[in-house]
Amino acid sequence: MELKILITAGDGIGPEVTREAVAVLEEVARLGGHTLALDYKRIGGVAIVQDGTPLPDDTLKAALDSSAVLLGAVGGNEFNSLAPDRRPEAGLLKIRAELGGFANLRPAFAFQELAVNSPLRPEVIDGADILFVRELLGGLYFGTPREWDKNTGRAWNTMVYTKDEVARVARIAFQLAQKRRKKLTSVDKANVLEVSQLWRATVTEVAKEFPDVSLDHQYVDAMAMHLMNQPRNYDVVLTENLFGDILSDESAVITGSLGMLPSATIGGKVNLYEPVHGSAPDIAGKGLANPLGAILTGALILRHSGGLETEAAAIETAVRKVLKDGF
Ligand code: IPM
Ligand code: MN
Repeated sequence: MELKILITAGDGIGPEVTREAVAVLEEVARLGGHTLALDYKRIGGVAIVQDGTPLPDDTLKAALDSSAVLLGAVGGNEFNSLAPDRRPEAGLLKIRAELGGFANLRPAFAFQELAVNSPLRPEVIDGADILFVRELLGGLYFGTPREWDKNTGRAWNTMVYTKDEVARVARIAFQLAQKRRKKLTSVDKANVLEVSQLWRATVTEVAKEFPDVSLDHQYVDAMAMHLMNQPRNYDVVLTENLFGDILSDESAVITGSLGMLPSATIGGKVNLYEPVHGSAPDIAGKGLANPLGAILTGALILRHSGGLETEAAAIETAVRKVLKDGF
């Protein structure tokens, strides 16, 4: 089969980790007799510098014309003083919105071989295998009104969800749970926020369509603690946008390195694939960045956009082998 992948390597360590992911994808495709059609476009800070915008039109056009988009990372310290809508991150949020994927899958699992890196005791993390399903197109990231009014010294953002937005991502999370250990934990702050009450009520309603999956609800603050002291208790964890952003970084502690975590965003026109880590400008270009998150993200492309489960699993096995046996 032929897979058309747009590579948007972005900033910082993005290009170096993406290069390794592409090398692995090319080799796996070659061995499996598949063809990759690769295209490269700019996004983020590098696009601001060269094109005057974090998401140039030709990048978006090429993305919409692909079967998958692989993003490296965006952001850099030189853009820190820019308003949110002009920063490199705005390019990422725009491409997410335009591609339309609302379910961001972030698997986090304990790599026994990396246990030494985790501050958590091996007996706490051994066997932990969590799939975060982070809603990616709603909540505080996209809600309006939003503004920093410099005259009055007030700033505000809006956390907003519709019932349909919650239901569609919940359905994907339940379906994924059906294929795993049939356990779904929905995260909210329903003791304080109306939007979380809507979230909880909607997830509870959707649960009726999936009687074989057990559902429980956790407040986000308690969840932050439980993830660290009993990570093995969780299977699929469903969150709104910002809660998922925070908890998925936290879950890197279970894995042993933020550089290990891949993600896939599904449900829209074109799937978007990104490692969970950022652009890490402090180590960019030094040959220090861990490319395994990007390489594992490549495996997710093969699984979710190519339907190539065997090839995807082969990459994941190879990563474990490399960790075990050394480079
Ligand atoms: C992530 C990142 C992004 C996010 C940033 C770069 C906009 O932190 O993918 O987790 O907050 O979603
Ligand atoms: Mn994040």
